[in-house]
Amino acid sequence: MIHLSKTLAVAAACLTGLVVAHPGEKVDSHIVKREIDAREAIAAAAKRSLGACESSVLARELNTRSVARRSRTVNQLRDKRGINTSPQKWRRDLAALEVWEAIDHNETGILDYSSATPESTIFSANTSCILAPTVTDGPYYVWGEVVRQNVKEASYSDGVDVFLEVQYIDINTCGPVQGALVDIWQANATGVYSGISESGNYAADGWDSTYLRGIQQTDDDGVVEFETIFPGHYDGRATHTHLLTHLNATILSNQTLEIGTGSVTHIGQLFWNEVLRSAVEDTYPYNTNTQSITSNADDMWSVVQADSAYDPFPEYIYLGGDLDDGLFAWIQIGINATADYTDNSYYSIAAYIEADGGHENTDSSSEGGGSPGGAPNK
Ligand SMILES: *[C@@H]1O[C@H](CO)[C@@H](O)[C@H](O)[C@H]1NC(C)=O
Ligand SMILES: *[C@@H]1O[C@H](CO)[C@@H](O)[C@H](O)[C@H]1NC(C)=O
Ligand SMILES: *[C@@H]1O[C@H](CO)[C@@H](O)[C@H](O)[C@H]1NC(C)=O
Ligand SMILES: *[C@@H]1O[C@H](CO)[C@@H](O)[C@H](O)[C@H]1NC(C)=O
Ligand SMILES: *[C@@H]1O[C@H](CO)[C@@H](O)[C@H](O)[C@H]1NC(C)=O
Ligand SMILES: *[C@@H]1O[C@H](CO)[C@@H](O)[C@H](O)[C@H]1NC(C)=O
Repeated sequence: MIHLSKTLAVAAACLTGLVVAHPGEKVDSHIVKREIDAREAIAAAAKRSLGACESSVLARELNTRSVARRSRTVNQLRDKRGINTSPQKWRRDLAALEVWEAIDHNETGILDYSSATPESTIFSANTSCILAPTVTDGPYYVWGEVVRQNVKEASYSDGVDVFLEVQYIDINTCGPVQGALVDIWQANATGVYSGISESGNYAADGWDSTYLRGIQQTDDDGVVEFETIFPGHYDGRATHTHLLTHLNATILSNQTLEIGTGSVTHIGQLFWNEVLRSAVEDTYPYNTNTQSITSNADDMWSVVQADSAYDPFPEYIYLGGDLDDGLFAWIQIGINATADYTDNSYYSIAAYIEADGGHENTDSSSEGGGSPGGAPNK
């Protein structure tokens, strides 16, 4: 399951091109370059320590359980939703993705699995493993969301259902990261985040809204599951889902995390396959989104995120015959459980949501990288 030999052809030329592609976004090419260099150094170290995991019994046993669990989850979801049509078991074709990541928009590379395909072929996470040593959390991270599996709310959450399973593996031990508290946040189908109030991306109910945000705690196999929707796109960024992992944070009786507790062990963004994105965005209400689309190839952070050691695209299958039935998606992420990014420039808190509502973090400009007002990151 921990497979490291994949290489994405991310040419320097493509990075340069992307930096100049969006002059309005205030991307400092020197900063991007420095971040990439730093990431490569960290990735190389982590890759070495992960090499040992490939043959680890622990990792193999974990993978066997993961395949069974994903298969079970899909069957349960299908039963619960009364889906009888045969699922379209689609899996990304890695070779096609690599071609595509190198800025070839070839959309032919989706494998169509017959129902005879073994579970292990469909539900392994071989290509989705390992190490995103942190990309910015952007200007929209809100502290104080509640622990809940279903992050959809009655308003502003319509879209294609996504049951997202994320499994965290500790790169130091090859074992699952247990008890981690994982924050998820993403834009809704028309590309707007809750909990923020900024021109250009203004959430209805402003700071007080919480749709498509929530927290789950990893189980013994390092797994969290969220019920969410496929994120919509918004100006300047490729379609993505944010994830942030805390260790040793305290859960209060109102199911929020106590401010200032725990470490930040991982900050990442999942990106979504382009063929899938366009299929989703042909449906209502995605097709009412008037913001401009940014492809993965043009997104500054997807290229930073997808290096030779990390594939930021979740695997996915259709639960039923079409997108109305929803998707099950999964990814494994290798993290360094002893690291703490609390003081990293990529970590910034846009707002705190409390009993009396949400409040802008007036201090967030001091956090560097992902802060609103000046930083390019979204
Ligand atoms: C697109 O992908 C298909 C299948 O992967 C391949 O046969 C075809 O040659 C590709 N076309 C281009 C222009 O890369
Ligand atoms: C993982 O990838 C390797 C190399 O591509 C392959 O040999 C192996 O069978 C794959 N394992 C699974 C579970 O898909
Ligand atoms: C997304 O949220 C914004 C405001 O927060 C709202 O105006 C819009 O209707 C929502 N989109 C959908 C599809 O619910
Ligand atoms: C933090 O959490 C990890 C993983 O759950 C655990 O192994 C470690 O002992 C905890 N550290 C402290 C200081 O509580
Ligand atoms: C994990 O993080 C710790 C603390 O920052 C660091 O000392 C260690 O080298 C890291 N391990 C790897 C494999 O990167
Ligand atoms: C949860 O409880 C804490 C501690 O009492 C409080 O500070 C926070 O505002 C509460 N959050 C919500 C959303 O009620």
